[in-house]
Amino acid sequence: MNHSPTDWPAALRRLALELPTSRIGDVASIGRGDPDVIPLWFGESDLQTPQFICDAAAAAMHAGHTFYTWQRGIPELRQALAGYTNRLYGSRCTPENITVTGSGMQAILLSCQTIVEPGDNIVVVSPVWPNIVAAIHVMGGEAHEVSLTLKGGKWHLDVDELNDAIDDRTRAIFINSPGNPTGWMMENDQHAAILEIARKRRVWIIADEVYARIVYDRPVAPSFLHVAREGDPLIVVQSFSKPWAMTGWRLGWVTSSNKFGEQLAKLIQFNISGSPAFLQFGALAAIEQGEGFVAQMVDRCRQGRELVFQRLAANPRIQVARPDAAFYAFMRVEGMKDSLAFASKMVREAKLGMAPGVAFGRGGEGHLRLCFASAPERLGESLDRFEKFLAKN
Ligand SMILES: Cc1ncc(COP(=O)(O)O)c(C=O)c1O
Repeated sequence: MNHSPTDWPAALRRLALELPTSRIGDVASIGRGDPDVIPLWFGESDLQTPQFICDAAAAAMHAGHTFYTWQRGIPELRQALAGYTNRLYGSRCTPENITVTGSGMQAILLSCQTIVEPGDNIVVVSPVWPNIVAAIHVMGGEAHEVSLTLKGGKWHLDVDELNDAIDDRTRAIFINSPGNPTGWMMENDQHAAILEIARKRRVWIIADEVYARIVYDRPVAPSFLHVAREGDPLIVVQSFSKPWAMTGWRLGWVTSSNKFGEQLAKLIQFNISGSPAFLQFGALAAIEQGEGFVAQMVDRCRQGRELVFQRLAANPRIQVARPDAAFYAFMRVEGMKDSLAFASKMVREAKLGMAPGVAFGRGGEGHLRLCFASAPERLGESLDRFEKFLAKN
């Protein structure tokens, strides 16, 4: 929904005015609040945040953690996150390498605020979650997309193509692995090659690793953190949202050099002035006691992945890669020309919500994205509705 500059009683910033609404949000707004709609449009599970995490936050609130707080996060949580990072990645982080943010999304925007000047660009591996491109645009930058290609049922990144896309105005490479919407997962040889490129060409890497724990054949997805050296131009974004079903809490964190974290801290002051302390005590419980829940979440997604993939792959109109990680099926639907119109009609007529592929950048049109982090019964019913709708459209 765009307005022209003349609709306003006084001027707005052009970049804000021209920012499109999220196409995923556009579809969701049609059916949100309708109890008959099954919503598989957003990236979240149907599970609520586990009780022990809620209890820890409530206890902290009652204990008086209701004041202004640290810009980079409460010391207890930064300490715990440094330990968590070292356990999972064999790294040697200290709390100085950790900055708590008001969500993964905010971590991405803060990173852009820190490095993007108007007219700069960030090379973005796509298809990609649209908010990333929007965050670059908010700062007056451009996103230069390098597309993954689907070969033999697997998504691939051409690292040479990525290198060739870097120019004089490139400030960063943005890589989201495990990836939304494709479920692509990069292996460590490519992390190492891309780090080498970033060192040589003096550009940042913004590694969006919010799906690091939603992985099916190992405890954590391969990461830049497995291969990075001290002093590398690396910003790793993670989030409490996905592994611990905390999407509504709006908490994430950045792992980076202390020097970069200090710059983030200045911007945090003017964006949010620190994430609510009592919520951070809930996040601390997630880190300290939440491994059992992560395993439960991954099991739920693994079951969802098998069910959805089997049914979709059997449909002659659907082309879909079996995702290596994350919790999405990104499917090409033969004969579907306008994914936004198709997904909107599906909400109205079939009471089923999926994200339209056009939201995910170059090459996304012609696809739909389904989030399978839900109970098998719910997914089964969704697929029944989808197949019926597809037969008529
Ligand atoms: C690729 C990617 N990055 C970042 C986020 C942000 O997550 P949050 O803001 O909930 O921490 C999401 C959420 O869907 C995502 O898919």
